[in-house]
Amino acid sequence: MPHLFEPFALKGVTLRNRIVAPPMCMYSATDGIVSQWQVAHLTQLATGGAGLVIVEATAVSPEGRITWGDVGLWNDGQADALRPVAAAIKATGAVPGIQLGHAGRKASANRPWEGDDHIADGAPHGWPTIGPSPLAFDDKKLWKVPSEMNVADVARVQADFVAAARRALDAGFEWLELHFAHGYLAQSFFSEHSNRRADRYGGSFANRGRFLLETIAAVREVWPDELPLTIRFGVIEYDGQDEETLAEAIALIQLFREAGIDLVSVSVGFSTVDAEIPWGPAFMAPVVSRVRRKTDLPVAIAWGLGTPEVADAAVRDGTADLVKVGQALLADPHWPFAAAMALGMERPSWATLPAPYAYWLERYRPKPAVPPGQPES
Ligand SMILES: Cc1cc2nc3c(=O)[nH]c(=O)nc-3n(C[C@H](O)[C@H](O)[C@H](O)COP(=O)(O)O)c2cc1C
Repeated sequence: MPHLFEPFALKGVTLRNRIVAPPMCMYSATDGIVSQWQVAHLTQLATGGAGLVIVEATAVSPEGRITWGDVGLWNDGQADALRPVAAAIKATGAVPGIQLGHAGRKASANRPWEGDDHIADGAPHGWPTIGPSPLAFDDKKLWKVPSEMNVADVARVQADFVAAARRALDAGFEWLELHFAHGYLAQSFFSEHSNRRADRYGGSFANRGRFLLETIAAVREVWPDELPLTIRFGVIEYDGQDEETLAEAIALIQLFREAGIDLVSVSVGFSTVDAEIPWGPAFMAPVVSRVRRKTDLPVAIAWGLGTPEVADAAVRDGTADLVKVGQALLADPHWPFAAAMALGMERPSWATLPAPYAYWLERYRPKPAVPPGQPES
């Protein structure tokens, strides 16, 4: 069996294969309530055969949304709207997961196809942002200077993470991913690009890691021990300081592990515009395998894994335990079925698709063409 299709067990949860439909913002919610379009989108991803489907970055508070169209979990109505999504994902045989986040200084932005830039505080859909230090991300697109969080703000956001985690559990999710990557709030506490604080949440390695560690510990208290608590963490910025950042990130992940994290989804920090990211097939593989080796935690790899052979190799060669496939799944929600065929999996439809699809696809599978002049068998 191709390695991509081996089951994966973590805590009390077993994924049917190593393919993860990663969190992908659709920016199509109203007041944080998931839209019917998103319900269709997420159900379709699960029908396609991924082992784990993670609902897009879901804000723990209104101010923590990237755009006004983000999904949220700061009230019970939002949880009620997500409950059928979790149930539908589970009904397909996938494990329902959700990513919780706070956008920090990158919040209050236009939807990508409407500008991808900040919206002024008083303009329709705009609101003030917060962060560890009053530093804007850049002076062009994400130009807002966040107000510096005080210790009470820190405690409030951490309480929001805890409340959202409780609601996620109540809504039926079985896998929680904390969004500690991509320059959003948690990542911005860790990165010196965005954190210049002089109190116990800034400066030293221990202080820059404190917000993240405290949040993990608080969420672990309410997230059941038998269910995976995971993080997405930017371990590298590609800003010329990579060895230092990676060494610190690995040291922090070791502390995350002690605080109760079960798996790390390794990603990029995206904390600075002055980064030279070496985009390409599986470009993070050396970094991901190093994190796996050094931390002894299971890891997920992402970015550029949309070719079946590349995805399978990432598991086979021990780079990663799970593979996040993003845009390839948007292009073809049945990518796992296509990958199973490409990798020579036995009975690929039954291995990836629900019975009412699998039966017909196997029964009517095109037979190899018979060369002219030869009798049909
Ligand atoms: C439309 C879209 C929305 C995304 N939204 C999120 C998100 O909400 N949270 C997150 O951690 N990553 C997000 N990402 C990144 C994906 O989770 C994933 O890492 C990436 O798409 C993988 O690279 P690939 O598209 O080359 O497979 C998004 C990507 C896309 C294409």
